[in-house]
Amino acid sequence: MTATVLDVRDVQKTFGAVTAAQDISVAVPEGAVYSLIGTNGAGKTTFVNMVTGYIKPDAGTINFGGRDIAGMAPRQITRMGIHRSFQIAQLCNELTVEENMLVAGAIHGNHRPSFLRNGHNAEARDRALATLERFNIAEHRNRLIPELSGGVKKLLDIAMAMAGKTSIMMLDEPTSGVAADEKFPIMDLVIGALRSEGVTVIFVEHDMDIVTRYSERVLAFYDGRIIADDTPDEVLSDADVRRYVTGAAA
Ligand SMILES: Nc1ncnc2c1ncn2[C@@H]1O[C@H](COP(=O)(O)OP(=O)(O)OP(=O)(O)O)[C@@H](O)[C@H]1O
Ligand SMILES: [Mg+2]
Repeated sequence: MTATVLDVRDVQKTFGAVTAAQDISVAVPEGAVYSLIGTNGAGKTTFVNMVTGYIKPDAGTINFGGRDIAGMAPRQITRMGIHRSFQIAQLCNELTVEENMLVAGAIHGNHRPSFLRNGHNAEARDRALATLERFNIAEHRNRLIPELSGGVKKLLDIAMAMAGKTSIMMLDEPTSGVAADEKFPIMDLVIGALRSEGVTVIFVEHDMDIVTRYSERVLAFYDGRIIADDTPDEVLSDADVRRYVTGAAA
């Protein structure tokens, strides 16, 4: 039996009249790859935001690492090993790929970026380059962000989220803004790199081909609730999912 790494119980969240999370419960086994599906506004990002500390649930518990992390600050949750990417990549346009990576390393390691110290931190630089290589983007290291393709930006964003020790990686739409022919190669790289390190992955995705190919388990969200939690085949053939999720305009 694989241990549960993340145990979400009866989580609720409303924004005024909108119920963004209602009775959300899920137990994620260590090392699993989960995808979250659902139409716009179904509650996928809210789920990611609650697990990563960006939104405090109104009620319920989120157990990770032997503690209830519901309502903890994002920084504290990151330090405990839950990292994330955002729907829109969070990159600094005025810096190069390598400098962005060094900033991410500095934030995770709590030190000043080495390029602010005249590049004297060789160890931080080696670590940054190794991570860029793992995501196959080291060749772009001296380029500025606006010169990059959507796919390379996504890879960099995820590489930066991996700068610290990662137990769970939450990816909010890793293939949005990525050209159709780049989606599979990017997911191969990302999921391959994360799996090889035993990282548990939870990613939000609108493309059902990606869902089927890369996740072992799918959570289907509708109106702030999880209406299905099963293998991709089971979830995508579920009558409610076909009616409210995959059949509806996403
Ligand atoms: N910070 C917030 N303040 C107010 N309402 C919010 C906030 N965050 C989310 N909501 C609302 O909660 C509901 C769920 O939003 P959420 O962003 O979780 O959807 P989503 O499934 O990620 O959708 P999408 O596919 O468009 O990204 C929506 O009605 C949204 O408008
Ligand atoms: Mg979203």
